[in-house]
Amino acid sequence: MRVPKLEQPPELWDRLYAPASCVAIITTVDRDGSVNAASYATCVRVSHKPVHIAFTTNLAGKHTLGHTASNVRATGEFVVNLPIFDRAILEKVRIVALPFARGVNELEKAGLTTLPATRIKPPRILECARHFECEVEWTKEWLGRLMVVGKVVAASVDADKVDDQGYVLWDRIRPAYYCGVPYGGGMFAGACETMVVDMPYEGPETEFNRLYEKATFES
Ligand SMILES: Cc1cc2nc3c(=O)[nH]c(=O)nc-3n(C[C@H](O)[C@H](O)[C@H](O)COP(=O)(O)O)c2cc1C
Repeated sequence: MRVPKLEQPPELWDRLYAPASCVAIITTVDRDGSVNAASYATCVRVSHKPVHIAFTTNLAGKHTLGHTASNVRATGEFVVNLPIFDRAILEKVRIVALPFARGVNELEKAGLTTLPATRIKPPRILECARHFECEVEWTKEWLGRLMVVGKVVAASVDADKVDDQGYVLWDRIRPAYYCGVPYGGGMFAGACETMVVDMPYEGPETEFNRLYEKATFES
């Protein structure tokens, strides 16, 4: 018997599309170098090569401070720090998401450790496993928010969390995902399984695809 389909109304689409991306803490600095950090679940790699990362963020408004947006516009730089699925760091993800006043360093508030980035001014976060240092490629105001696309100019990872070919070790990298509940709900999901899936089809398209993948993923 086939499982019946539930038609979901627009207000439930976002909830349904979970996980949409890894949870991230994005660090930025203002023109004076003051550090800001905020949590993001809508932060996605949008291009394989060169690697680009996109996210949307609040503009300053009645209930929002928009510090990430104004810093990104002022300096053109941000770091995407990816935590693992671990209670201690995920609690800190919730702390840095709080609306601290401009100039307050959320990393200090959360007891996280600043690690200088290698190419840009915003810092990395020591306790996160993966870091993507980005230069802003373009921004667009959209739906009352700021969409930001950044080009990755440097990336780093805990040495024990990738193999010697740079593939992530899922049982160690353990990404965390937004779970479809409001951000205040504090619910996260983790996934860390890999599966090699066969291509049970042969034809000219598979060769075309192989060449595309070679051009896209192999240097
Ligand atoms: C788990 C989690 C995920 C979040 N994801 C997003 C997101 O994708 N986009 C967003 O605008 N805010 C998101 N937030 C809320 C921001 O972190 C929060 O509004 C923060 O105060 C914004 O800081 P800012 O003023 O430095 O930009 C999230 C919060 C949590 C706890």
